[in-house]
Amino acid sequence: MNKIGQLSVEEFLRDYWQKKPVLLKNVYPDFECPIDPDEIAGLSLEEDVESRMIFENGENHAWELKNGPFTEASFSQLPKEKWTLLVQGVDQWIPEVADLLDDFCFLPSWRRDDIMVSFAPKGGSVGPHYDHYDVFLLQASGQRKWQVGPKCNAQSPTVENTPLRILQEMEVTEEWIVEPGDVLYVPPMYAHNGVAENDCLTFSVGFRAPSENEILQSFTDFLSVEASEETRYSDPDVRDSSDQPALIDQDSIERFKSILNNAVSDAAIISSWIGCHMTESKYPDLHQPLEEPLDWDELAPALSEATHLTKNEMSRLAYTEEDNGIKLFGAGLVIGLSYHPSTTYLAKLIANNRHIDMEVLLPLLEEPACQNLLLDLINGNHVYLDELETDE
Ligand code: SIN
Ligand code: CO
Repeated sequence: MNKIGQLSVEEFLRDYWQKKPVLLKNVYPDFECPIDPDEIAGLSLEEDVESRMIFENGENHAWELKNGPFTEASFSQLPKEKWTLLVQGVDQWIPEVADLLDDFCFLPSWRRDDIMVSFAPKGGSVGPHYDHYDVFLLQASGQRKWQVGPKCNAQSPTVENTPLRILQEMEVTEEWIVEPGDVLYVPPMYAHNGVAENDCLTFSVGFRAPSENEILQSFTDFLSVEASEETRYSDPDVRDSSDQPALIDQDSIERFKSILNNAVSDAAIISSWIGCHMTESKYPDLHQPLEEPLDWDELAPALSEATHLTKNEMSRLAYTEEDNGIKLFGAGLVIGLSYHPSTTYLAKLIANNRHIDMEVLLPLLEEPACQNLLLDLINGNHVYLDELETDE
């Protein structure tokens, strides 16, 4: 898509992305919601699905939080108004919801987190708050009143006696009633509050940005796996310490600093870490390689029965450009290095697209190296064969 609502992608990225909220009207004309509230409620009963409910006037206190999985009984005891059910990672479970992510391909796919879906009856809201990540709030059905306010920070006063971060006060800078197909974009830290006008479903297309803390922890864990036990701190030029043996002198500090600097200045290690870290699955326990890996003789006949190759909803694939090729990452691992133009082409095609038409794929698979790459991706559970309806 080269437009998002009334804006060109270029205008959106230049003027709004990570800068200020904007309501994008009618991004999806005649939007057809791919799920209904019953399906969302059904997902929230599942053990593997992350879900929660928020009650503005809870039994015990205001803005009460209940974590799923829920039961049928949880749904029979709900108040009439002012509650919200939120289900995380709906794109991981419902392929039609995952397909919506393609519309955000103007942003790197490895920056995406998931699509959270909320259902709320009239008056339902999660309260005025801010998030640490960018979010596109797609109104999927019903109407919602959205208000946005200024940027907040950790010092912004929040309501006490609730586990939720609800702003005590929210100055309203803009307000709209959104309709199905409208998208509100909210950058990190901006106050926002959406209250259902009637039964409504909202899809939050959330992005992720690792915190400095996460980056440092994960990078140092990654480094320490690779780091040698043999290379050690050494000080052949040490000075006589007799007058102050407890002093960590400037020379010693410099020696440590150079070990640390060497570790963080290796561009290949940094890019490998980014590839691994940013492709970790959202729910790694649920995204495992095939228990019984296929070989080419088993896969080949199945290819002719499928219409498409589809990226697994749980898989994040990304690549870095290397000299004469690419390095492909998925599920937190290096899948492979490709220096051959045909495997490089195939790897990019698969990483950049959610569905690939078999007619496009089959001619590429004459090359044995491409067959092996596809097998790795199928056996690693990154892609699967699909029978999508075609327009003809
Ligand atoms: C909602 O869907 O009710 C809230 C989403 C958000 O504010 O991030
Ligand atoms: Co929010």
